[in-house]
Amino acid sequence: MVNTHRKLILNIYCSAIILPQICICSQFTSSSNDQYNENPGVFPVATNGEPFPWRELRLPTKVIPLHYDLFVHPNLTSLDFVASEKIEVLVRDTTQFIILHSHGLEIMNATLQSEEDLRYKKSGEKLTVLSYPAHQQIALLVPEKLMADLRYSVAIDFQAKLADGFEGFYKSTYRTLGGETRTIAVTDFEPTHARMAFPCFDEPLFKANFSIKIRRESRHIALSNMPKVKTIEREGGLLEDHFETTVKMSTYLVAYIVCDFASVSGTASSGVKVSIYASPDKWSQTHYALEASLKLLDFYENYFNIHYPLPKLDLVAIPDFESGAMENWGLVTYRETSLLFDPKTSSTSDKLWVTKVIAHELAHQWFGNLVTMEWWNDIWLNEGFATYMELISVNVTYPELQFDNIFLNDCFEVIKSDSLNSSRPVSKQAETPTQIQEMFDDISYKKGACLLNMLKDFLSEEKFKKGIIHYLKKFSYRNAKNDDLWSSLSNSCLESDFTSGGFCYSDSKTTSNTLTFLEENVEVKDIMTTWTRQKGIPLVVVEQEGRLLKLRQERFLNGVFRDDPEWGALQERWYLWHIPVTYSTSSSNAIHRHLLTSKTDTLYLPEKTSWVKLNVDSNGYYIVHYEAHGWDQLIAVLNQNHTLLRPKDRIGLIHDAFQLVSAGRLTLDKALDLTHYLQHETSIPALLQGLDYLESFYHTMDRRNISDITENLKRYLLQYFKPVIDMQSWSDEGSVWDRRLRSSLLKLACYLNYAPCIRKATELFSQWMESSGKLNIPSDVLKIVYSVGAQTTEGWNYLLEQYGLSLSGAEKNKILYALSTSKHQEKLIKLIDLGMEGKVIKTQDLASLLYAIARNPKGQQLAWNFVKENWTHLLERFELSSFPMRIIISGTTSHFSSKDELQEVKLFFESLQTQGSYLEIFQIVLETISKNIKWLEKNLPSLRNWLLISI
Ligand code: BES
Ligand code: ZN
Repeated sequence: MVNTHRKLILNIYCSAIILPQICICSQFTSSSNDQYNENPGVFPVATNGEPFPWRELRLPTKVIPLHYDLFVHPNLTSLDFVASEKIEVLVRDTTQFIILHSHGLEIMNATLQSEEDLRYKKSGEKLTVLSYPAHQQIALLVPEKLMADLRYSVAIDFQAKLADGFEGFYKSTYRTLGGETRTIAVTDFEPTHARMAFPCFDEPLFKANFSIKIRRESRHIALSNMPKVKTIEREGGLLEDHFETTVKMSTYLVAYIVCDFASVSGTASSGVKVSIYASPDKWSQTHYALEASLKLLDFYENYFNIHYPLPKLDLVAIPDFESGAMENWGLVTYRETSLLFDPKTSSTSDKLWVTKVIAHELAHQWFGNLVTMEWWNDIWLNEGFATYMELISVNVTYPELQFDNIFLNDCFEVIKSDSLNSSRPVSKQAETPTQIQEMFDDISYKKGACLLNMLKDFLSEEKFKKGIIHYLKKFSYRNAKNDDLWSSLSNSCLESDFTSGGFCYSDSKTTSNTLTFLEENVEVKDIMTTWTRQKGIPLVVVEQEGRLLKLRQERFLNGVFRDDPEWGALQERWYLWHIPVTYSTSSSNAIHRHLLTSKTDTLYLPEKTSWVKLNVDSNGYYIVHYEAHGWDQLIAVLNQNHTLLRPKDRIGLIHDAFQLVSAGRLTLDKALDLTHYLQHETSIPALLQGLDYLESFYHTMDRRNISDITENLKRYLLQYFKPVIDMQSWSDEGSVWDRRLRSSLLKLACYLNYAPCIRKATELFSQWMESSGKLNIPSDVLKIVYSVGAQTTEGWNYLLEQYGLSLSGAEKNKILYALSTSKHQEKLIKLIDLGMEGKVIKTQDLASLLYAIARNPKGQQLAWNFVKENWTHLLERFELSSFPMRIIISGTTSHFSSKDELQEVKLFFESLQTQGSYLEIFQIVLETISKNIKWLEKNLPSLRNWLLISI
């Protein structure tokens, strides 16, 4: 793939104007009432040297698309495609040109026709086409002005090579069981890549209908958003599939695939035909996805009370896919490991992932496809909602997965980055394709979802559900912005509220956007804008004094301490959230509620109580610090009888305690003391939460080579968790969370070289090798067995061989991880070489490979050096702001924890900046490393001492 950024610069024709990309163009003579006349004198320059009549990145709105007739003929042998389209447009205001997005397409011909404008009634008036690659736009200049309120039809012939990367209309290959390599062609457009496949109005607001025709060879099939209506025979034995016209939708949701895949199908309760497609040899791995997608589709149709509007829904496993999945309407595309489930090699975590991704993409069929954000600044309306709906749908369709625990982890995950100053508000301006792509981050997905979950908890699930259904119905086939959501949620009173009072609007007293909460009028918008327009997360400091509960809010900052000079500036006065505070006490299980809208507040507890726990079930997006004896009281409860607190409250306490350590508000000893009750913990997610922190300290010490602490932590972990480690069987038995616990504990035990673990894993690995890979190892311990096996050269080589042969993506992931844990640098280098070559190890897996190698103490420097030295080669494979690049950047740097490393990373990022590459992730990484340095400076002695006392 060509690096877009470099390509743009090379394509700019007007040499004098490379940077601002505009120049003074006296030669422009055409007269019109368009932008030129309003701002005469300053125009960008098209590739042919002529002035380009539009200088904004966003398209003009004088011409809007109504319908696209799109014909595409990919040639999977010559790896290119020829295509043509006819776009029916409505002119809303007189204009002399039509601006379209087009990127990397060769335009052969463009003509204009109109049934409504007599001047253009005759067929095909040829148009002048200008190209301005810096903005990925073309201008079609018309000889005579187009008239307002008339319809025109623009016909364009174009062609291009099938893209090499993962965007636009690109090629993907796979190997059959017989060793043959086959090629398919597939699209992936979000956010701004439809323009690489056909000239179009490539912005989410320009919704239109699409009629698609695909020409193909008879050995292939073609799929698109809609079902096929007919197939026509064309010369040379070619076939042409015509698809039904789509509903009104945005360009980024258009999709088509030419492949030779096999499928399984079923019918949802509503009659929608659901099919799962995969390459023929992987057909046997499609059944779980079919079951899950049928269940989830039924769930969503019921829950939203809105039919899925298309007659069919295809889910396709694509062999080369950059992200996890993409929600194209009616033709959802997935990375193979996000859709396929192999009963032999897919673990229970793999099943959770597949279920999550299907639930996410199906939720998009409503949130995103039916109702779309107006512009990418509000992408959280798509991604936050799809992530939130995962929780709602999976908890109902697969209760045994206890998905709420996974969801809670997502919230904790984003809190890490949101508590850095380099975070960003949920809603943020984004103009360039790079900025737009950067919006697809944890803030949009996870913070968005966690805020929605908090709001649901505040309004009640019933009212929240009513509100979002109202929103979906009102904005169907249209676009929406934040305020539209807030007013739909405010307008979601239940009938009963008007009579019974409680939380709703009281008709006459309040405006339509107001609801009453505890007898006060509150606006959803007022509450929620404090969460979407400000970055960061609040800290609620609570102090109990008898029956008084004093609350205070401030901005929570990870890695900045109160005595740091920058503290004051970062706590600027205007940081204020409207926090739906909940709490329970020792004397009642009831959930008390209070909306904290000021910096400080005081509550009166209904009765005397020995402890108070805020943020019930961790539903709120805030961290809680208990002053005075608050923490001691809670630690005492955990030690005496932890079941007095709810499981998610225990998880929340562990989480908040360690976050407060990073913020310098709680001593590490205290947080570690809190984990002391874990031996008796009965909730697996809570146990895993605690274990996770302890394990992460081990990895940090190991990576930094602080051998005394590493050794003592190892002893502590093995001593403390021995009973529960020894209880684990090497099987796939038990509930989902029993199985997750088993995987985590045995992985840790073997990692720490616990002899019984290594013995058993070695034994299983030898048996597996002796059986030539035929022995079925329980899937939950597969990764552990492979990782132990990979420590010998013989085992490593054998695994690499099996990697090339395996048809299970789930197994391949486990093998690749195992290979990356080798202590031999030359083996790690070989892996990176294979990843760069992209044959045995596909380019799509390079990011996770580098990530894994950087986690290995013996590989961390290697991975980082590789990234520095091969930056331009990486950019030939991935776009700068793509998911993989961001994973590579943060994955190979953000665990660093020394000043020298910080300096090195900083210098590298600065050198990239001077070359014109800047990403938000750079700042996040630098701040993360600084935070790590401070953590060690502050806590190393305490950790050392605590261990001496504890073992
Ligand atoms: N709409 C996204 C795909 C996407 C990602 C498009 C980034 C453009 C840029 C899709 O719905 C998605 O969110 N995919 C996730 C999986 C999901 C389960 C979190 C992904 O690819 O990681
Ligand atoms: Zn999504």
